[in-house]
Amino acid sequence: MRVAFTGGSGKAGKHAINYLINSGHKVLNIDLKPLDIEGINNLIVDITDSGQVFNCLTSYLNINELKDSPNENKFDAVVHFAAIPRILIKSDEETFRVNVIGTYNVIEAAVKLGIKKIIIASSETTYGVCFANGNIDPKWLPVDETHPTNPMDSYGLSKVINEQTAASFQLRSGFDIYSLRIGNVIEPDEYHRFQKFFEEPSQRLRNIFNYIDARDLGQVVDLCLNKDGLGYEVFNVGNDNNSVNISNDEIINRFYKNIKIKKELNDDEALFSNQKIKDVLGFKEQHNWKKYL
Ligand SMILES: NC(=O)c1ccc[n+]([C@@H]2O[C@H](COP(=O)([O-])OP(=O)(O)OC[C@H]3O[C@@H](n4cnc5c(N)ncnc54)[C@H](O)[C@@H]3O)[C@@H](O)[C@H]2O)c1
Repeated sequence: MRVAFTGGSGKAGKHAINYLINSGHKVLNIDLKPLDIEGINNLIVDITDSGQVFNCLTSYLNINELKDSPNENKFDAVVHFAAIPRILIKSDEETFRVNVIGTYNVIEAAVKLGIKKIIIASSETTYGVCFANGNIDPKWLPVDETHPTNPMDSYGLSKVINEQTAASFQLRSGFDIYSLRIGNVIEPDEYHRFQKFFEEPSQRLRNIFNYIDARDLGQVVDLCLNKDGLGYEVFNVGNDNNSVNISNDEIINRFYKNIKIKKELNDDEALFSNQKIKDVLGFKEQHNWKKYL
């Protein structure tokens, strides 16, 4: 497929783009800064500017495309990752502005240009645990996509609003728009961090103990590109196990004594449920932390 990918120069995007290119897709990276890897097509765009967004979604990928197919510059899909990726990077209202306006611009332009597959990066933070003031427990475990989304921070709020924007444009267009509630992204060179998680598991409480390998996230994006006809859908994106080396019995005993347990849990089955990406998309993780430690 011919894919427009926003935010591909970032931590998660660069691995996802790599996965998509290796799967045979043609990708244009749309970002404020280029992804400096040979063979990557970059276009510098500010997604908060609707004009730039409309324009880039009608762009050629590169000079060769101009020569080979001057009239075939339509994208088959948009993957939207560009964002301020958490609180405490920029001021709260700037995080809200970039994420909410940027996402509106990308989805609106894609729908009005007739691009029928749109995948957006939402976040685990929509569940309200990650950036809560004080400690907020999940309502139940494992946290699946039916769990309420009620965050109190500007970033989590921006992602909840973006999901609603996506649902609204899906309703008016009938296109496929999928929101990925991505867990804590771990790059291939970050597995050394797990030693610290093992020493102090409470560090992972705000992430509901989840992680997602950046390459496995790429697989989920690819599966979404290949899965048509779902309309609007939301998916948790996490790996199969928790990011700590203690059992679920111990985690629940130490951190979640009074939390409702919705189903029988295996020893180290992820408390941030990835059952839906397995059942609906056919996700099979390739990069469990146990391979790297
Ligand atoms: N990293 C995580 O653990 C995590 C977890 C859940 C969700 N997410 C989401 O996944 C996506 C990617 O996150 P990441 O960790 O790679 O973040 P990142 O900051 O590394 O990458 C985001 C990219 O977006 C670009 N960008 C920011 N503002 C822009 C603008 N106005 N116009 C164009 N490009 C702009 C940045 O230049 C950057 O390359 C984000 O939507 C983030 O909210 C990330």
